[in-house]
Amino acid sequence: MSSKMEDRNKEERLKRVTDCLVSDIYKLPLFDLGSKGDHRLSGILSPIYDDTVVKQYVPSQFFESAHVYIERYQDTEIFQSLISKAFQRISFTPQGEQIILDIGSGAGNTVFPLLSLCPEAHVIASDLSVDMLVYLKMGLEKLIIDPGTNRSCFLVQLNAEELDFVEGSIDMVVGASVLHHMISPEKTLARCAEVLKKGGFAIFFEPFEEGNIIIRAAYHAILNDSRKTALSKKTTGFLETMIRDYDVRMVRDKSSPRFDGLNDKWLFNKKYFSVRAEEYGYSDCIYFPLRPTEHQFLNHALTTLRLFGGMERDDLPDWAWEIIQQFDQCFSEQAKEELLIEGCIILKK
Ligand SMILES: C[S@@+](CC[C@H](N)C(=O)[O-])C[C@H]1O[C@@H](n2cnc3c(N)ncnc32)[C@H](O)[C@@H]1O
Repeated sequence: MSSKMEDRNKEERLKRVTDCLVSDIYKLPLFDLGSKGDHRLSGILSPIYDDTVVKQYVPSQFFESAHVYIERYQDTEIFQSLISKAFQRISFTPQGEQIILDIGSGAGNTVFPLLSLCPEAHVIASDLSVDMLVYLKMGLEKLIIDPGTNRSCFLVQLNAEELDFVEGSIDMVVGASVLHHMISPEKTLARCAEVLKKGGFAIFFEPFEEGNIIIRAAYHAILNDSRKTALSKKTTGFLETMIRDYDVRMVRDKSSPRFDGLNDKWLFNKKYFSVRAEEYGYSDCIYFPLRPTEHQFLNHALTTLRLFGGMERDDLPDWAWEIIQQFDQCFSEQAKEELLIEGCIILKK
């Protein structure tokens, strides 16, 4: 087949699937955001949200400083391995033109692995932040598509707390680091149960209270140690801020104004998901830790020190690391499997 004909076939197929997406799967009319002339937005579909609604739901770092977030956190390799691990856990083999909805896609940390692991699937990459979708679009334009596959990806501006898809129309929902930014993640879990086909899966990657509370205890022990006077002001400030942040995120009622505009709103626990799984009619709910359990508290403390504190290992003295290490040593590896710091949650419809 000539490459022109191949291109035309591909275009027709994409149009067919887009029409199908618009008319058969999504309940509201979708509009191309580029239709008013901004070519950066062309191909991004949206039911059209008011800007104030977007700002009410999405923390500003995901539009005003989207590039900063992406520079810091874009790592598709990690997600390729995490999604493969999740697929193994549920014995999922990609088959044909399945419909996968990725929510809070950002610049595509899970979208690119899904396209690679499920080459025949239609991936609907969605986010409420158009800025994030523009970065994702640029990444997809650079993607070299294997000519032997039918890979297709649609970009849709969507509020993950609404998900107005037809009931029973989606094979899999994937969301990485999105639920903990939401005001009401239970709305998403409830809608996912409705839009998934029977036997379909919702896969999430989120922070957990069980493991983070141990790190909080370690920070507390450091700040209560008699050697604490030797800590720099910056280090003390970092530990105090982390403790305050954990305490706020563990509050279950998010209706207080202090959560408005707060970026990280939740630290989940297993019970949060298992209760909702039962309430919304999922048939199963499983978890696994995202990182190796060996030295998990120490490794996580080091990562947060670097990412959120802008500091390095030497900014905490050896005695403080020993305190954190003691928490790693007093739990067996099996116990640490249960003490999730960041975990994958898989819900089966
Ligand atoms: C921490 S980022 C994760 C992005 C991507 N999944 C990743 O792993 O890199 C969270 C994303 O969720 C989006 N988001 C937050 N609240 C949302 C909502 N209510 N509906 C849809 N997207 C939302 C943000 O715009 C942002 O792109």
